Amino acid sequence: MKKQRLVVTAGPTREHLDPVRFLSNPSTGKMGFAIAKAAVEAGYEVVLVAGPVALKTPKDVKRVDVVSAREMEKAVTDAAGDILIATAAVADWRPAHCSMRKLKKGEMGGTLALVRNPDILKGSTIPLKIGFAAETGDPVAEALRKCREKKLAFCVANDVTQKDAGFGVSTNRVIFVKPDGSCTKLPKLSKLSVARRIIAEIGK
Ligand code: PMT
Repeated sequence: MKKQRLVVTAGPTREHLDPVRFLSNPSTGKMGFAIAKAAVEAGYEVVLVAGPVALKTPKDVKRVDVVSAREMEKAVTDAAGDILIATAAVADWRPAHCSMRKLKKGEMGGTLALVRNPDILKGSTIPLKIGFAAETGDPVAEALRKCREKKLAFCVANDVTQKDAGFGVSTNRVIFVKPDGSCTKLPKLSKLSVARRIIAEIGK
């Protein structure tokens, strides 16, 4: 039987304003790489679209490295998957202009003009989509809103204000939120265990 292709986005994106300056965030890629590993274990063909991170590629995973949100969007489209799991922390905005050479302090002024990046998850036509919601307020309400707005099978909410969850750490505390509002809260687990639970949920 032909394997289903599962595409995972991981890590941050960088939005350059010149070759040495960019907008970004603290995502390390750990959550997304764990999902790629768990998906291979479960028998999927896996394409991992990774922003700039310092992690080893899991065995049997096809990795596509990207820098910006627009590059990530193209790589996800090109991967033409059956399932998309979006763990990447994609920059919602990018500088309106990117200089090819390092800007001098005096050229920069006090204001940075920004334009919106594409919403990769919302725009993707991959048939089954799972998103993440990194929240500092009410994770369930935000995850439910994103679930409905982006037409997700479910959304994985993580409260990134907790020190053993979210960015950078090897554990996570997550809640699966479905479009009908039903929720499943998991205990604190390693990111690989969370990843295996997500893959098992897709199998259902
Ligand atoms: O990489 P780690 O250090 O292990 O950290 C893991 C994590 C905290 C980054 C991860 O668990 C997580 O929560 N990822 C989503 C982070 C996020 O920025 O979520 P969001 O609420 O901004 O976006 C909602 C969803 O839409 C996400 O699935 C995101 O990948 C996607 N999105 C958002 C904006 C955009 N322009 N395109 C997108 O595809």
